[in-house]
Amino acid sequence: MKGATALKGLNGSLSGKLIRKLAPKKTEYAAVDIGSREIKVVEVSIADGSPVVVASGRYPTPAGVLDAHVNEEDLVNALNELVLVSGIQVNEVIATISGDRVITRHVKMPVMPEKELETAVMFEAEKFIPIPVDELTIRYINLGEIESGGDKYLHLLLAAVPTSFVYDYNEIFIRAGLTVAAIDLQSLGLWRVFGNLKNSTAKNGTVGILDIGASATQFVVVRDRALQLTRTLPVGGNLLTRSLAEHYGLDFIKAQQMKEEEGELLSTDEAAVSATADAMQMDFSLRDGLSGLVREIRRSLDYYAAQDSATAIERYIISGGTSKLKGFREFLTGAMETPVDFGNPGIPGLPDEGLIDAPFDPSFAVVLGTALREVAE
Ligand SMILES: Nc1ncnc2c1ncn2[C@@H]1O[C@H](COP(=O)(O)OP(=O)(O)OP(=O)(O)O)[C@@H](O)[C@H]1O
Ligand SMILES: [Mg+2]
Repeated sequence: MKGATALKGLNGSLSGKLIRKLAPKKTEYAAVDIGSREIKVVEVSIADGSPVVVASGRYPTPAGVLDAHVNEEDLVNALNELVLVSGIQVNEVIATISGDRVITRHVKMPVMPEKELETAVMFEAEKFIPIPVDELTIRYINLGEIESGGDKYLHLLLAAVPTSFVYDYNEIFIRAGLTVAAIDLQSLGLWRVFGNLKNSTAKNGTVGILDIGASATQFVVVRDRALQLTRTLPVGGNLLTRSLAEHYGLDFIKAQQMKEEEGELLSTDEAAVSATADAMQMDFSLRDGLSGLVREIRRSLDYYAAQDSATAIERYIISGGTSKLKGFREFLTGAMETPVDFGNPGIPGLPDEGLIDAPFDPSFAVVLGTALREVAE
């Protein structure tokens, strides 16, 4: 590292090349996902060639953090605590950005040289973003060429974030002793983990990935490893919590605890023969909230189906904390009339929740994918 620092003083691209050659190759990557319910962190090592999770942890997100009343102090403390309990060893992290902070849009642009694309993207962004572009940090990824009406286009995913938010975010991490190396989209993390890794279970065919968190759901469609569509749905496990709160007359926190500890959806067989009245009431209350979630998923599905290039989704991969609800996978299989699985990225060392069909704690999918950002497969 010392050599690299010394060389920074040199001018020109040669110094850049030398630095890359002389600096030790990075083998540890950490990521932080500040979810609305829990902050997740993982550290991945590629020292032995393929990725292995060497540290991980999750910690409750302080209340109010993701709404207008951000209490930065509480968030800094929570991050500090999480660094300690997880035992991550690096302080440079890749952070994800929650769905409501970022505006993303899939756009179709005429094929053009990379240099011109930059300007064209800005022009395009101005059309659909209500905020002045000079207050935004705008990035795009090129998802490849598509054909439409006999012409070739570039399929781009545009992402725009208020620049002030990026500064605030960096500041919070710095106060917790961490440096943000990059900010990444949750959808890209999910795509890597379930749709693009060498060992991923969902790399063939058309797969819908649903990461169902607390306040939002990420919907990603991948076809033969290529990203087709990403959408953020403004619904998640909080719908179920609210529905329990109403049915049982509890406050939000108590209802959430009840859901996480005792929540269970019954199969139709159980409901018909062996369920107790309490179990039936729980099932009923949860389904009330779930109907809103399913409605939103169907709406996104219709949106996807209306695209020129859409092909039928053959199966779903679920992740996110809400997918841990007992009976949820079976429920969604029935609701979507399509097979639903917990995906398996085939990476050792991931935290295990002891769930019967999930190979790792599915609330770690986003943060794992974020940590794999720099890990070429
Ligand atoms: N065992 C469980 N049964 C039912 N729900 C659960 C269980 N465990 C966690 N949840 C729910 O999962 C949600 C949290 O999931 P996750 O950690 O993926 O969300 P998040 O990333 O914090 O939120 P978001 O992505 O919406 O910002 C909460 O609604 C929580 O109550
Ligand atoms: Mg989340």
